Amino acid sequence: MHIQHPLTLLGGISPAQFMQRYWQRKPLLVRQAIPDFKPLVDRASLFAMAARSEVESRLVVKPFKLQHGPFPRGKLPKLSQKEWTLLVQGVDLHDDKVADLMHQFRFVPDARLDDVMISFATDGGGVGPHFDSYDVFLFQAHGQRKWRIGKQKDLSLVEGVDLKVLANFNPSHEYVLNPGDMLYLPPRYAHDGIAVGECMTYSIGFRSPSQNDLARELLMRLSDETEDLEAVLYQDPRQGAVEQAGLIPETLQTFAQVAVDKALKDPQVFARVLGEYLTEPKPNVWFVERRLSRLPNQLQLDRRSRMMYDGKHIFCNGESWRASGPDARLLRLLADQRALTQAQLQGASTAAKGLLLDWCNLGWLKVD
Ligand code: SIN
Ligand code: CO
Repeated sequence: MHIQHPLTLLGGISPAQFMQRYWQRKPLLVRQAIPDFKPLVDRASLFAMAARSEVESRLVVKPFKLQHGPFPRGKLPKLSQKEWTLLVQGVDLHDDKVADLMHQFRFVPDARLDDVMISFATDGGGVGPHFDSYDVFLFQAHGQRKWRIGKQKDLSLVEGVDLKVLANFNPSHEYVLNPGDMLYLPPRYAHDGIAVGECMTYSIGFRSPSQNDLARELLMRLSDETEDLEAVLYQDPRQGAVEQAGLIPETLQTFAQVAVDKALKDPQVFARVLGEYLTEPKPNVWFVERRLSRLPNQLQLDRRSRMMYDGKHIFCNGESWRASGPDARLLRLLADQRALTQAQLQGASTAAKGLLLDWCNLGWLKVD
């Protein structure tokens, strides 16, 4: 992606300018971010997705009754009933066109991109005034939605409702979005979107792990990497007789500290488990295996595959490889482009081709 080139998607500014001026800072309204936009998923297909148990969906009926899916068709309110919203999470995992739309936002690192949620609402529907903890691009795909937004400090919530609804919503701006329009909001920016007639909105969402989540996840993974510490048992030949049997010995505290320091010490192991964690496939994702004996001429990552890299490793779907030289360059190109052309594949080493064939057979790569 040319990050210095102006994008219609961003209202004529470049990704570099967007990231510098708006990202995590202030809202941006873009009229006709995608001109002449035609919805990628029709109502029937969205409802069919919401009926599947492996798809995460929610139903919000005003005034703020929340139910979790799956929703067999008969379980959704009638289309003639006003003020309800169906929210379907992770639609990019189920539809290539939606995944392609999400990939237009890859001027933000893949490690931050989360998913595309599609909401369908009947007239007056919405989830109430709230704030999200993450950045979001709210793309209007079908019909109209009125957004009211405001940068308020008071983020206290209404008590006793299933949803996070702001108790004192104080919007400063109001916009009616038409198909193709888009509104970017930074984290914790108060907003309320109300359907004007039947409408569909796509939310391109991001993930920001908390320090707590990262620490828990990485420490758990690091603890699987410490077999060499297993043989080192605590010894205390100098332990004297104690009168205060309840007191934890200082030497044991130091021993424990050293054990944790050792587990965290190797930066390569640390980088590896982080990459493995970040590329872990979403829950409910499974890949369909194949039995190819020859690598196809060109390759594309499956829409569900998560691939990233760092200076020493290549990561794909929760696994890691050490790579350097031309093989590393080729695999990094695949991660960045999510595809490799015939020309790019031509010079690949036997080892790289073997690895990519394995990935094809695991279903991680698309075969046309
Ligand atoms: C919606 O699409 O109805 C809600 C999206 C949001 O406000 O984050
Ligand atoms: Co929101």
